[in-house]
Parts: sequence; structure tokens; C-alpha cells
Amino acid sequence: MDGSPIAKRIALAQQGVATLLAYLNSAEYLHRSDDPENCDFVFGNPNEMPLAGFVEAMQKWSVPQNKDWFAYKLNEPDSREAVAESLQAWRGVRYDPEDIFLTTGAFGALAVAINALVNPGDEVIFISPPWFFYAPMIIAANGVPVRVLTDMRTLEPSLQAIEEAVSRKTRAIILNTPNNPTGKLYSEGFLKRLGELLVHKSHQIGHSIYLISDESYSKIIFDGRKHLSPTRYYPHSFLVYTYGKTLLTPGQRIGYLALSPEMPEREALREGLLMTQMVTGYAIPNALLQHAIRDLDRLSIDIPHLQTKRDRMVAELRGMGYELHVPEGTFYLLPKSPDPDDVAFSRRLGRQKVFCLPGSVAEMPGYFRISITASDEMIGRSLAGFRAAIERVKA
Ligand SMILES: Cc1ncc(COP(=O)(O)O)c(C=O)c1O
Repeated sequence: MDGSPIAKRIALAQQGVATLLAYLNSAEYLHRSDDPENCDFVFGNPNEMPLAGFVEAMQKWSVPQNKDWFAYKLNEPDSREAVAESLQAWRGVRYDPEDIFLTTGAFGALAVAINALVNPGDEVIFISPPWFFYAPMIIAANGVPVRVLTDMRTLEPSLQAIEEAVSRKTRAIILNTPNNPTGKLYSEGFLKRLGELLVHKSHQIGHSIYLISDESYSKIIFDGRKHLSPTRYYPHSFLVYTYGKTLLTPGQRIGYLALSPEMPEREALREGLLMTQMVTGYAIPNALLQHAIRDLDRLSIDIPHLQTKRDRMVAELRGMGYELHVPEGTFYLLPKSPDPDDVAFSRRLGRQKVFCLPGSVAEMPGYFRISITASDEMIGRSLAGFRAAIERVKA
């Protein structure tokens, strides 16, 4: 015992995101909405009223139809069937409803998959720059996070780097496509070769390496592109999905974890996954959201409009001299910081009333991230600030 009231693994998880936590506690972040003129591009939060269909579904399904309406809910057969039908229509793959676990968003699905799989000291590979909570979640499950860097020219990790990261202790790899923060849709060539590599390495180390496929943004795709699920190319796969992105309602927690129909271990995993949902704090969505799931599944934010915002911002920022690629999906733009010190540059933007996520706080030094969930009006208002900030750096 070292006298700290916090368990070591949680303290370690905190250390893993110390720079992000410091940023979230900074005056710059905390005061970003003090002035109505401020433009907040930091996170993928809504900046406009929720979808009307979402509000209607909440109202409709909050009226109880029987005494058990708000009783304890598990992975309700009807919700499981709704997800299975959705996946079949969307991806042409028939999932067994018994292999679908309703979760509190992708956070819940990731926590359940990681906690169900990882023994103390097991390694879990993830790709950096990552979504902020992969490493903390692995550490909190007593695992060891192993980082593989994205090649920022191709926006994919190299297969060689993944191969080198595998050890006898590797239990799982987490992939995220389309990717937060790069907006990259992993290509078929990469996914096929990765599937082959994982088969080969699993054989070599004597146990299956599980693939946890975070597909939180798989319905937020631009330019008519097609999302390819990594789960199609490797049988030992868990699919992670959240409705929070497609509906832009991240405060209403619903998503799912689905075991690939080809996964040989799926029957053996079922009871353990339910147990993990329980012991990770009932990682099951509220009754109301489960009742509403069929209606929610039909809804989406306006993706063509999001694409218009992406195009407008990319063109405007490039016109000012920013360097940035065009994301293929997700909510994010990832420009290079004109000042190599991206934290200083984000502060400079803040002085212009524009708030973006400095890359260094989330394993992407030299970049900053913009969330295009901002409204058109906010985007328009922000442009002068983006221009003034880069001009000052150039001067
Ligand atoms: C890649 C990725 N995975 C998981 C999550 C968590 O999603 P949710 O809050 O809907 O559970 C997010 C949220 O930002 C994300 O970007």
C-alpha cells in the first residue's frame, strides 16, 4: 500500500492520459463556452438541437406498456433481434442474436471485450494516434497497452510494425475504422493482409489473438465510399458499435458488441461476456433505449451536410495556408499545426475565440483536431480566427 486511496491500476490509467486530463482542467478548456462568440471545435458534441425523430422515439417509448417496462433489462431478445436485422440489412451478414450484447455505447462494448479477454499482464495492441481511452481501459483491466504508430503518409499502421509488436503475451488488437482522429477508412488490401498476419501470428504464439474492431463511425462516411469491417477478414473478431455518433446523442448511452458469426469461440464466450457486463457496472443500456432501438436504428444525422461542412472547412483552411488531408469519414479534421508547438498554437487559436484539441494531449504532436459537428454559423464565425492565428505564426 502506498497510502493513495486510488488503486494502482487506476492511477496508472490516469497517468496514461495525464496530458489530456490536464488539458480538460485547463482554464482554456473550462472557459471555452463562457463567451457566446467562442467557437468550440474540441469534441464531437452536438452544437444544434437533437434530431426530431430521436426526441419522438424517446417520448413514444417512455410510455410503459406493461409492469416490467422499466424492470431490470439484460440483452433483451427483441433488442438483439433488432440489431441482428440491422446488421443483416446493412452488411449482408447474419449475426446470431445470442452473440449480440447491448452496451452503454462503444465505451461499454470496449470495456466488456477488454475485461472479458485480458488476464493480468496480457498485452493489447492499439494504433496511435488513438481514441483517448484505449490505453487507460487496457491498463484498468490489468493489461499492458502496446502502441503501434500510424504511418502519417498512408494513415495506416505498417503491417511490419504490427508484426513486431506481437509477443507471446498478445491477447488482442484494437482497430478503429473509420479512424478517430485521422478520418481514414482502412483499405481492403490492409485489412486482408492484417487478417492473414493475425492467423499466422496466432498460430506461432499458440493462441488466438482477438480483434476488437471499433466501428463507432462506420455510418459516417463521405464521398460514397464503402466502409469495410475488419471483422470480415478475420474470424476471431468482436464488432464494437455506438449509436452516439450516428445520432449525435453521446449522452444517451447505447451501442453493442457483436461476435462474428465465424468466431469459433463464440458459444464459449457468451456467458463470460454477460458476466463481464455485470461486473463492469451493469454495462447494459437503460430500458427506454432498448425499447426504442428499432426506431433509433433508422435515424441518422445528415451525412451529406456533414460532408459539406468538411469540404467548406478543408477549402477555407487550405486557402489560409493550413496543411490538411481530406478525411474519408468521422467528425474530425486533423490539420498540421503551423507552429510545431501545437499546444501553443491551440492557445493562440483560443485567443481568437476558436477552441480546438491540441494534438500533443492525445498522441498526435504537431497536429490539432477540429470537430465538424460545429454548426455552419459557428464555422463561418471561426474563419477570421483561424486566419489571424496562422498569419501571426507566419509573421
Ligand atoms: C473511436 C471511438 N471509440 C469509442 C468512442 C466512445 O463512444 P461512445 O461515447 O458513444 O461510447 C469514441 C467517442 O468519441 C470514439 O471516437
